[in-house]
Amino acid sequence: MRKKIVAGNWKMNKNIQQGKELCNSILNLLETSNKEVILAVPFTHFTVLAELVKGSNLKLAAQNCHHELSGAYTGEISASMFASLGVDYVILGHSERRAYNNEDNDLLRKKIDTALSQNLKVIYCCGETLDERNSGVHFDLVAKQIIEGVFHLNSEEMKNIVIAYEPVWAIGTGETATSVQVQEIHVHIRSVIARKYGEYVADGISILYGGSCKPSNAHELFSQTDVDGGLIGGASLNAEDFISIIKA
Ligand code: PGA
Repeated sequence: MRKKIVAGNWKMNKNIQQGKELCNSILNLLETSNKEVILAVPFTHFTVLAELVKGSNLKLAAQNCHHELSGAYTGEISASMFASLGVDYVILGHSERRAYNNEDNDLLRKKIDTALSQNLKVIYCCGETLDERNSGVHFDLVAKQIIEGVFHLNSEEMKNIVIAYEPVWAIGTGETATSVQVQEIHVHIRSVIARKYGEYVADGISILYGGSCKPSNAHELFSQTDVDGGLIGGASLNAEDFISIIKA
């Protein structure tokens, strides 16, 4: 059985006081379940939040890491630093970083290797823009992001990869992909993985949906057979909304 995962991506929101408050509210409302619940918070919050989540089933994720483990890279943060703080996951390949920081599949491959070398699990994001969908290249584009990003890994390493399909046109826009569109592309992603690693490995990989996922549409999206949870941006900044998405 593959893991059901709901990850909140706070992006560059909440100062430390607000972050503590939000994390505490989530902890108060969170019931034990078989789902993995993850908070991807700003770098500055880890020391404090790691203490808060200790002993709970909330896990922490970084929103990015550098592709080298250490060195003269002013302002950067390394996977080994996250690992030393008890962080479990790192999000890599988010469309905002692909767009604003020019991160391409080649760089992401290096980041993935560095993260895995520190025993971090990777939430690897893929997804097309509206133009790409309208011109019908979205299936090929998503396959290329996955092939170039993670297909150098062996089957054992693939166990530490979670895929997040996030159509760029649905992120932060209020526009959600329909459950039919999401299921269709998740099946495609799983079949691309199966062609390289076999059905058994592909069936074990959690594939999350992200893009304007909210309490009102989470249940419909998550009830698709190949949707194993969500990567939640805006709606993860409100404890009640985030919890009702987890319950969905
Ligand atoms: P959103 O963001 O839920 O605000 O659309 C999702 C994401 O970027 O991970």
